Parts: sequence; C-alpha cells; structure tokens
Amino acid sequence: MTHISTAPTPPASAAVSDGDLRMTLAAELADARRRTLWLVEPLSDEDLHRQHDPLMSPVLWDLGHIAAFEDLWLTRNLTGHVEFSEMPGLYNPFEHPRRVRGTLALPRLAEARETMDEIRARALARLDTADFRDGPRLLLAGYVYRMVLQHEYQHGETILQTLQLKRGDPYAPPQRRVLPSPAASYRPGEMVFFPGGPVELGTDDRSAAYDNERPRHRVDLAPFWIDVTPVTNGQFLEFVEAGGYRRRELWTEEGWRWLTEAGVSAPKHWAKRLGVWTTRTMDLIRPLEPLRPVCHVCYHEAQAYSTFAEKRLPTEAEWEAAASWDPAIGAKWMYPWGDEPWTPELANLDQTAFDTAPIGAYPRNVSPIGCYGMIGDVWEWTASDFCGYPGFEAFPYSEYSEAFFGPEYKVLRGGSWATRPGAVRSTFRNWDYPIRRQIFSGFRCARDA
Ligand SMILES: [Fe+2]
Repeated sequence: MTHISTAPTPPASAAVSDGDLRMTLAAELADARRRTLWLVEPLSDEDLHRQHDPLMSPVLWDLGHIAAFEDLWLTRNLTGHVEFSEMPGLYNPFEHPRRVRGTLALPRLAEARETMDEIRARALARLDTADFRDGPRLLLAGYVYRMVLQHEYQHGETILQTLQLKRGDPYAPPQRRVLPSPAASYRPGEMVFFPGGPVELGTDDRSAAYDNERPRHRVDLAPFWIDVTPVTNGQFLEFVEAGGYRRRELWTEEGWRWLTEAGVSAPKHWAKRLGVWTTRTMDLIRPLEPLRPVCHVCYHEAQAYSTFAEKRLPTEAEWEAAASWDPAIGAKWMYPWGDEPWTPELANLDQTAFDTAPIGAYPRNVSPIGCYGMIGDVWEWTASDFCGYPGFEAFPYSEYSEAFFGPEYKVLRGGSWATRPGAVRSTFRNWDYPIRRQIFSGFRCARDA
C-alpha cells in the first residue's frame, strides 16, 4: 500500500524565492499524482475502462485528461500560446460528453501511466527554468502550476463520485482515516444572526484563486439568520417521513418536474431495509446516522426541505459572509477558522476518510459568527446562479468558468470530505446543475431577519 500524504498547501508569499517555490510546486505535483494513483489502486483494468454511470467518465478517461491538461498548460502553453480547444481530441471534454466516453478507445492503465510520467518529466524540466516574477502572466507567483494542481485535485473528487456509483462490487478504499468523535454539541436547526452591512467577497489573489473568485468586491447585505450546522440526516428524515417528496406545495415548478421524472423519495444512496433507513458510502452501509450532514441531495431537494422548515437557501454572498467575514472587526478570513492552512484536525477534507463526519467532530471548524462545518464534509447548495463578479476577467481560459455562467447552474460552496485542501477556501465557487445528486452535496438554510 502506498503512503498517503495530508500535506497542506502553504500560501504563496512574495518572500518565497523562485527556487523554494519550484521545490514546493514539484513536491505538490508529486503529492497530487501519488494521491490520484492511490485512489485508483484497488481498481481492475476492466473497472477503469467501464462507464459506471452515464453521468461519469470511465476513470481511465479522467487519468488521460489529467495528463493532457498538464501537457497543455505546463509544457505547450509555456513555450507559445495554445488555446484550450487545442487539447487532444480524445481527452477534450467539450468534444466528448461524459455519457459517450465509455465508447472511446482508451489506453490500458500501463500505457496511460507511461504517458502521465512522460508529460510530468517534461513539465518538471520546464519548471526548472520558470520565472515567477518577470515571466509570462501565466507563471507569475507560480499560478499556472497551482491551476494544474487544482485541476488534478478536482478530478480526484470526480473519480470518487464515479467510484460511489461503481457497478459490480462496491469500491473498497485502500485505507480509511478514522474520523474524530464529536467534541462539541450542536442543536441541528439552530440559527445564528448575521447583522448585515458592507462585507467583502471574493479575492484578488493571483497565486491560486480561479478567475471566478476575483475580484474582491464589496456588497451590502441585509441582516439574515443562517443555520449553525449543515442540515443533518435526522432533520432530512423528518422531511421524508412528513411526506416531503409528495407535497407539491413544498417544491418549485421546476423542482416538481424533476421529482416527477426522477421518481425518487429519499436522498441518493439512502435505502429502507426491513423498516430501517440506511446510507451507503462506497462499500460501507450502515443505519442512517441522524447527526451526520445529509449528503447526495440535489438543489431541488435542498430547496423543498428549506420551504418545509420555513426557511430558504442562503445566497452565495450570505454563505461566504457567514463563513469568512467577522462583522465585529470588518475582517475576512481565508477559512472559517482563520488564515491558517488546513491540517487534519481542522476540517473533514482530503478524501481519505471516505465519509462525512458527525456534526461537532471538528470543534475548530467554526466561523467568526459561529457557523460550524462550512468547509468540509459536504458541498453546500446556495440559492445563487453561477455568474461573474463585477469586473470579472476570464483568465487564463474562458472554458474553465465563463463558459458556464448563466441560470442553468447553481453555486455550491465549502468543499466535501472528497475535496483536497488545495482545492477549497472560503472564496472557492463550485457549480452544477440543480438536478445533480451524485456529487457530495448537502446544504444549510437561511432566513430573512
Ligand atoms: Fe478537467
């Protein structure tokens, strides 16, 4: 069994020399690759090539795509400008929608790994001469390397979504990190007050943040209430048992249309066996635990629950303010707990637990206003459509986020247990269709003051 690392990403600082930054980036690239390969280690070649679900790529496609993306950005684009559309056809996500990727002529694992190694060697050779101060804009502060790192981290989470949907025998993780027991107790449904007023959202960081997180800007928020904890399994069970999935009045028109077509009556991966509700995460099936965050719900389910609870979903501005803004001193933090980089004691991130944690297991994962668990465990649906902030500028390619701006996508915040720490912060924005529930998604509610 290979070693699993939980090294956090140190923040880039102007005081770091180019040589030190090169070493850090090379170590992070190696760590990202170790993790990717560790996740897929238990899979047979057949499992790697199989399309386990129409929503997900064969895992082998993700591996090839990770390498092709690295080749595009860390070698080809650093010697002369290349458009994203010039990514090799087989691994170009826009040329082949996920549902058909199982029909592509994908290589065997050994061959894919050779390609990954060969591209990595060229990327590292180029890194040796990278000029992070006066080089092209892509290289300033090491940005393009962090972009490629985050891309690999994000595909790791995508692979975990696929593995949760695996056909045949369920995926057996190579090892599971033991989660801490709750050290603080919370009453699910309890709310905390945010006084409103001017807050700062987004960031001007150019070393790691994506274009859609920029620029940092000020908004005036009305006062609101927000749940102290994510909605739990226990709370969601009340909704299920009160006939929430049959009560038309709780759903929007679009939500009801989805529900009628999907014909579901509980979150994905919930099942009722002999009168007992169970949940499944990978190969672990157990009775529903009321004090873990509900996971695998779509936006419409989150919205219907919020109406049932006589609440609503927070906007993403409210979410970010509740997660990172200290209204007492007018300061913003990178994480709910401050600016200190993630460590395993701070929040349930980094994949290796393969599970959500009971509420209260991370007593330091509390924001300035007192919201628990805004980073880690489950992504949280917000009420907001995905769009650019005022003054948004696509960089370095519009296919990362700008191509998705619009009302079809809802924003999710905060990362899940399956998110690597280098791929989440209080300004990080994720987005997906409001009908998606194969993702590790939950939510918390808000209410007008
Ligand atoms: Fe990608």
